[in-house]
Amino acid sequence: MRAPILAGNWKMNKTAAEAVELVKAMQPELATITSVEQVVVPPYLAVPDVSRLCSGTPLKVGAQDLFWEPKGAYTGEVAPNMVAEFCSYVVIGHSERREYFGETDESVNRKIKAAFQAGLTPIVCVGERLEQRQAGQTDSWVAGQVRAALQGLSATQVAALVLAYEPIWAIGTGLAATDEEAERVCGAVVRATVAEVYGVQVSEAVRIQYGGSVNAENAYAIMSQPNIDGGLVGGASLKAESFVAIVAATAKAKGLA
Ligand code: 13P
Repeated sequence: MRAPILAGNWKMNKTAAEAVELVKAMQPELATITSVEQVVVPPYLAVPDVSRLCSGTPLKVGAQDLFWEPKGAYTGEVAPNMVAEFCSYVVIGHSERREYFGETDESVNRKIKAAFQAGLTPIVCVGERLEQRQAGQTDSWVAGQVRAALQGLSATQVAALVLAYEPIWAIGTGLAATDEEAERVCGAVVRATVAEVYGVQVSEAVRIQYGGSVNAENAYAIMSQPNIDGGLVGGASLKAESFVAIVAATAKAKGLA
């Protein structure tokens, strides 16, 4: 069985001091839910402090991005080994990076390869815009993003990474996909595309998260779906109470509570 994984993407929220407070508030209860892998993804500047707090605990730390070059004159960028000094996960290809910062399928693919080289586990985001959904292009778009992201990766790498299906229209809107539709895309599109390229063994191993307005109320129904192995949570991960509740709901939904 795939181990469920719940990650909180804090985006551009929390100073280092605030991040420490938030993690301290979450830790006692999170430590009691060991059946779900838990990851917090703070902004870069909070990562070292959060990482020190999480050392030796079940809570893992991720970064929100990286650059693929190992070092050099790339002002403002963070190299894979710099991320790996503090993190075990890295989010790559988030729709906000694709939309506002020029991330492309090609740069996503390069970053995934660089992440693996540095020993990081990528959480790779895909998802369609509202216009694409309305035009009936959801499945072909998402499948195309998955194929492009995974280009040239080994079967072992693909089995080890995490794919996050985040429909853009559901992000930060309070309008999550229905559990049936989230399950359909995660299973019949994302996992099926992995199966087409890498075979069923790899597709059954890869973990797929749903993201987009996951909260303490809808988490149980979404996480109960067989092809959804966890969540990538934005807004609701910024409060200890709701993040803990979502992790607990995931454990319960997977029969692991
Ligand atoms: P929200 O949970 O705030 O909708 O954000 C989802 C997301 O983008 C996580 O990466």
